[in-house]
Amino acid sequence: MDDNWKNEIPTPALVLDYNKMMENINTMAKFAKEHDINHRPHVKTHKCPIIAHLQLKAGCKGITVAKVGEAEVFAQSGIDDIFIANQVIVPNHIDRFAKLNKYIKIRCAVDSQKNILDLSKIAAQNNTTLKVFLDINLGLGRSGVEPGEPALEMARFIEKTPNIDLVGLMGYEGHLTPMMNLDQKEKMANECFKRIVDTRDLLNENGFNIKNITTSGSGTYRYAANYEGITEIRPGTYVFSDEHLDMVEKAFKIAVTILGTIQNQTGKKEFTTDAGAKAIATGDGKPEFKDFPKSKIRVMNEEHTQFKAIGLDKNLEIGQKIEFYPAHICTTINLHDHIHVIKDNEYVGRWEILARGKSY
Ligand SMILES: Cc1ncc(COP(=O)(O)O)c(C=O)c1O
Repeated sequence: MDDNWKNEIPTPALVLDYNKMMENINTMAKFAKEHDINHRPHVKTHKCPIIAHLQLKAGCKGITVAKVGEAEVFAQSGIDDIFIANQVIVPNHIDRFAKLNKYIKIRCAVDSQKNILDLSKIAAQNNTTLKVFLDINLGLGRSGVEPGEPALEMARFIEKTPNIDLVGLMGYEGHLTPMMNLDQKEKMANECFKRIVDTRDLLNENGFNIKNITTSGSGTYRYAANYEGITEIRPGTYVFSDEHLDMVEKAFKIAVTILGTIQNQTGKKEFTTDAGAKAIATGDGKPEFKDFPKSKIRVMNEEHTQFKAIGLDKNLEIGQKIEFYPAHICTTINLHDHIHVIKDNEYVGRWEILARGKSY
C-alpha cells in the first residue's frame, strides 16, 4: 500500500492512525464493561473534543481533565460530566469552576483546609455548592492527604464548611506505572487500593456515606478494576499509547507518530530531519524510529534531529519522510495545533487540538 498521504502533510506533524486509536478505545471500553467499573478517561492525552466524544460513545461515563481551562473546552463541546483530578487553587480558576458548576456536573479534588475555604468562599459568591473528592496520597507523594485519620480529619473539615460537599475519594498510584515486574506491581497497586478503601471504611464508620472511589491510569487500571471497592478508573495514555506505556502494557497499540522530512545528509547514513524538540517532547526520553528502530539519535535541537540510520537497505533521500514514536505522547500533543488523521491508509482530515496549552 502506498503512503501518498505522507507527502500531503506539512512537517513536522502529528499523525493519528484512526483504526488503532479506535481499537484502543474499544479495548478499554470492553474491559471496563466486563469488569463493571466506571471508566472516566483522562483527556489530557489527546486534548481533542472529537476523541472524547468517541470515548463517550464507546461507553465512558464522563471524562477526566487536569485543568479548568481544559474543562471549559470540553464543556463547550457538549460534555456535561467532568472530573478535574487535581486541585483548583487560583481564585480565577475557582471562579470559572464555580461557573461551570452552574451548567454541567463537575467535581475537583481537594487536600488542604486553605483550598477548601477558598472554594467555599467563591462558591458562595457564585451562589452555588461545589462537589469535591478528597485526594488521598497513595505513595506518589505529589498531592493528597495521608490515608486514615488525617483523611477523616479533612473530611470532617469539609463537612462543616458551607457550599462544599464531599462526594468521594480520589487516589492516583502513578508512581507504579513504569514498573516492569508485573507481579510486584500488582502487589503494590493492591496495597495502594487497600489504603484508600480502608480510609473509605473509616469515614463511613464515622457517619459519612462515601461510595465513589476513583483511581488509576493506563499502567494500573487492570488491578483497580479487580479490587473490591474501587468504583472508577481514569486511564488517559491508553488511547494513543506511546513508547513508555508500550513497555509495560501491551493491550494498546501506538496510534500516533510524528512525521518529519529528511532535510540534510551530513555523512554516510547520517541525516538531519525537521522534527526536533519543538515537535517531539523530550522531557521523558528520546523518541524511537518507527521504520528502522536501531537508528541512533546524535543530537536533538529545537527544530532538528540528527541521527545515524541503522538497518536501512537503501539510502534516505532529501525530502523523504520519516516517522517517530514519541516517548511520552501527552507532552508531545501539547506542542501541536492539530493532528492529521489517517484511516485505512488514507488521509481523512485534520483535527484541532483545542485544549492545547489550556493549563490555566
Ligand atoms: C491524576 C491522574 N489520573 C489519571 C491519569 C492517567 O494516567 P495515564 O496517562 O497513565 O493513563 C493521570 C496521568 O497523568 C493523572 O495525573
